[in-house]
Amino acid sequence: MHTQFKKDIDAGLSDEQKNLSSKYFYDKKGDALFMQIMAMPEYYLTRAELEIFTQQSDRMISSLKLQKENYFELIELGAGDGTKTKELLKVLIEKGYQFDYMPIDISENVLGHLKNTMQKELPSLSVKPQQGDYFECLHNLQDSHHPKVVLFLGSNIGNMSDQQAADFIYKLGKELSVGDKLMVGVDLIKSADIVLPAYDDAAGITKQFNLNLLHRINNELDADFNVAKFTHAPEYTEDEGVARSYLQSTVSQTVTINDLDKQYEFDAGEKIHMEISRKYSEKILQKIIEFTDFNITENLKDSRNYFSDFILERS
Ligand code: AVI
Repeated sequence: MHTQFKKDIDAGLSDEQKNLSSKYFYDKKGDALFMQIMAMPEYYLTRAELEIFTQQSDRMISSLKLQKENYFELIELGAGDGTKTKELLKVLIEKGYQFDYMPIDISENVLGHLKNTMQKELPSLSVKPQQGDYFECLHNLQDSHHPKVVLFLGSNIGNMSDQQAADFIYKLGKELSVGDKLMVGVDLIKSADIVLPAYDDAAGITKQFNLNLLHRINNELDADFNVAKFTHAPEYTEDEGVARSYLQSTVSQTVTINDLDKQYEFDAGEKIHMEISRKYSEKILQKIIEFTDFNITENLKDSRNYFSDFILERS
């Protein structure tokens, strides 16, 4: 991981358009900042998806074509604290469905925490955490031959380019069987006055979230980013439906990364591209899954049409 981290940071900062991958946002501090982001008034995504889970769980269950007498595996990719999923789990238990809940995450810590909270709040739930890479874990579960429902929520897919998302869904399909379901939570395209504040909050938490990666590089690669000399510059174009976050150097400066034995020059005003947060329409998702083995069978939206959980069936 550390070698890959080093390589990616060097490649990103050596590019014509400097960039750093948002997958490196999530160290301990980054996880905590993301929890704060989800609670911000401007970050509507989490609340919109939670509303779908609290108010439409019956429709969700019938759209997933679950049957009480048939055991299934409910698999969640990158579950976080499971707040939204808990709403679905509660209803499934109350109604007597037979299933195991299998959260997959790379972090043992996250899984341990999730298992504890789930067992405290839903004592009769069978939780079987799977630690590791999503595809490896799914591959190991293939042998069970049980029907599967895979959840990928929170518009996490939006942090991938459309090509990466297409490859990701294609690969998921290869680990699943005909009739299995994939539920993908996506943020919908809407106007800039709603989207942009979610990535440019008044309290400056998203700014800290982005700057934290510079702190991380300082700590882990013995670098000397002067974090105070970078500012947060998010952008969103409704036509394209993509929010982009940048860090912008406020002065001309040189940064040394000792572990890479290298220096990087920044012009005043030069931007580092940090993250894309893609917003979707059904047409865009349809195009992304065009060459995969999935079809869209249902689309559950919140009351303001901000967010959508699409149900895809493996053909
Ligand atoms: C995790 N992901 C879906 C978030 C998003 O909305 O793109 C990450 C995030 N970045 C800034 N705020 C939240």
